[in-house]
Amino acid sequence: MAIVKPVRKAVLPAAGFGTRFLPVTKAIPKELLPIVDVPVIQINVEECVASGIRDLILITSRGKDALIDYFDRGAELEELLERKGKRADLEMIRRLTDLAHISAIRQAEARGLGHAVLCARGLVVDEPFAVLLGDDLVEADPPAIRQLLDVYAKYGKGVVALWEVPSGQEHLYGIVDGESVGGGVFRLHNLVEKPEPGKAPSRLSIVGRYVLPPEIFPILANTKPGQGGEIQLTDALATLCASDGLYGVRLRGERFDAGDRTGYVLAVLRYALRRSDIGAAVRAGAEKLLRKT
Ligand code: UTP
Repeated sequence: MAIVKPVRKAVLPAAGFGTRFLPVTKAIPKELLPIVDVPVIQINVEECVASGIRDLILITSRGKDALIDYFDRGAELEELLERKGKRADLEMIRRLTDLAHISAIRQAEARGLGHAVLCARGLVVDEPFAVLLGDDLVEADPPAIRQLLDVYAKYGKGVVALWEVPSGQEHLYGIVDGESVGGGVFRLHNLVEKPEPGKAPSRLSIVGRYVLPPEIFPILANTKPGQGGEIQLTDALATLCASDGLYGVRLRGERFDAGDRTGYVLAVLRYALRRSDIGAAVRAGAEKLLRKT
C-alpha cells in the first residue's frame, strides 16, 4: 500500500450566485437554505467532521457573510437561552461553534468552481485536501467524503465521486471513461464534459466530492477559462488525470441534488421523514396530501 500524506483539510466552495434558486438567493445564500432546520452547509461540515477532517476552508463572496456568521458564537443568543433555561438549544448552538475549525476566503469575482478551489491555495499549501459541494447531499454510512478518503489512502492519487445517471441523460453531465479495479473503484482514463448523445463512454458522472493532491493548484492556475468564461474544475481534473492519474469511486448511499428545486424538496422530505421528532407526523401529513393531489 502506498504511503500517502493524511488529508486534514477540506475546501467548501460557496461563492456562486445560486441562480437556480432565485429569487430567494438574492438575499439568502443557497448554502444556508434549511433542510428542515439545519442549513445545507452544516450538513457538509458534519460530513467532514464525521470523516475525520476538522480544518475547513469556506470560499465565500460578497453578500454571503451570513455563512461565516453562522458558525460564530452568538453571545446575546446564548445569554437569552441561558436565562430562559433552554439547555438543549444552548448545547446545540455551542456544539455548532466547536464542531470544526473554520476559515473563510473571499472569492472576489465568480470566476468558476476551479477558480474558487484555487483561492484556497494559500491555506492548503502542499497538502492533499478534500472538496465538498453543498449541492450534493449524500446520506451515507460511511459518509461520502470518507468513501473517497479510503480510496485516496489506498492509491495515493486524486479521487472523484461518481454517480450513475439514467440512461439517455449522459449528455447533461460530466462523464468519466475508466476501468474498474473492483469495489466500485475505477482508474480513470478521461473525463468528457457533456458528451454528445449516444457517445458517452459510461453512465458514471462526477458529483460534488473530491480528494485532490496539491498538484492541482498549478494546473488550475494554468487552466484557461472554459464553458461560460469560467475556470472549470473538470478541465483541470482532465489534465491531472493525464499527468498524474485519477481514480473515481461510485458512492454508496442516497444522493440528492439540493442545488435543484426538485432535488431540494426531496432532500427536505427525506431528512424530515427520518427525524425521530417529526418523522411520523410528516409521513402522515404527506400521505394525506398525496391522496388529495
Ligand atoms: P454551481 O455551478 O452550482 O453554481 O456551482 P451556483 O452559483 O452555486 O448555482 P447556480 O447553478 O447558479 O444555481 C457549484 C459550486 O461551486 C461554487 C458554488 O457556490 C457551488 O458550491 N462556485 C461556483 C464558487 O464558489 N465560485 C464560482 O465562481 C462558481
